[in-house]
Amino acid sequence: EKGGYEHFMLKEIHEQPKAYRDTMRGRMNAAGNKVILPELNLTEEQIKNIRNIQIVACGTAYNAGLVGRNLIESLVRIPVENDIASEYRYRAPIVTPETLVIVVSQSGETADTLAALREGQANGAHVLAITNVVGSSIAREANSVLVTLAGPEIAVASTKAYTSQLIAFTLLGLYLAEVRGTQSEPEVAKILAAMQSLPEQVEVILAQKDAIKAYAEQIAEHKHLFFIGRGVDYAVAQEGSLKLKEISYIHSEAYAAGELKHGTLALIEEGVPVIALATQESVLEKTVSNIKEVKARGAHVLAITHEEHKNDLLRSVDQVFVIPQTLPLLTATLSVVSLQLLAYYASLALGHDVDKPRNLAKSVTVE
Ligand code: BG6
Repeated sequence: EKGGYEHFMLKEIHEQPKAYRDTMRGRMNAAGNKVILPELNLTEEQIKNIRNIQIVACGTAYNAGLVGRNLIESLVRIPVENDIASEYRYRAPIVTPETLVIVVSQSGETADTLAALREGQANGAHVLAITNVVGSSIAREANSVLVTLAGPEIAVASTKAYTSQLIAFTLLGLYLAEVRGTQSEPEVAKILAAMQSLPEQVEVILAQKDAIKAYAEQIAEHKHLFFIGRGVDYAVAQEGSLKLKEISYIHSEAYAAGELKHGTLALIEEGVPVIALATQESVLEKTVSNIKEVKARGAHVLAITHEEHKNDLLRSVDQVFVIPQTLPLLTATLSVVSLQLLAYYASLALGHDVDKPRNLAKSVTVE
């Protein structure tokens, strides 16, 4: 059942190229310049009337929503808020019939996320569910469902469901952009073409697993570490940190790269590992300055970046993992795979139960 892999998590990490293909399949036209999502169940007029979007979820699905916000705001220029589902209804969120509420849930059964869905509907919003389980409670109650086709996910730590959610958000963003006219057809075509390359690019990262394993064995000896990044890299940093904590129990924090010096920079001392996500060309120089801040305090820095920036970065960091070249909007779907493997091998090195980490359940149906 584990298909020759030692753990479900490793199997599911390797299933991501297929999950990407399956989630994209049938959702673009033959010319490759339009996204087709009839399941959204929204008229053109409804889409044009959306004034704000709220993305609500728990855990890894929440982290996917952070990337989703970045995608939607860049592509469609609609303001997006991210909410943790257990907080959402208690903060009296401002929801109107012109609000699109997006709930994200792998299982479709998370109690807090279901309650958030009902809160949105009670205020007249259209609630779109991004879920991996078609017959789930959330799928049944939502006004529309965008299914991720990751296949069953068994390991408690979510991997292929998270990345499939990123693919779903990208398709959604492109579709909304088409209807609202915020992206031209050639622009959409360019992004769709880049998306088609992602599955084979994931394979390139999977092939780096020996190097990632060696690094994981190094960090397994540490008590705590940091992830830093800007923009979408910060969102991925948060998922990388969660994944590592969930299964290796190594304490880590994800910081917006520029914020560390306003916070816990004092914790950076000799030898503390810092993983810097540096895939965003537009803020690369800024991220490098932040890397220098931690290097000056003795941190051991690993950077994740594109091949073309490798040599530049090697002047300021100790080690580099590269991801294949893609559009800035799509880097999360690749960089996170390195971090999933890192968490996996760190957990393995420490002898933990990778698929069933202590105190966690795959699906939480109590609030
Ligand atoms: C947590 C799981 O309890 O629920 C996480 O341990 C998961 O792995 C989170 O991300 C949300 O689950 P779901 O099914 O709503 O995406």
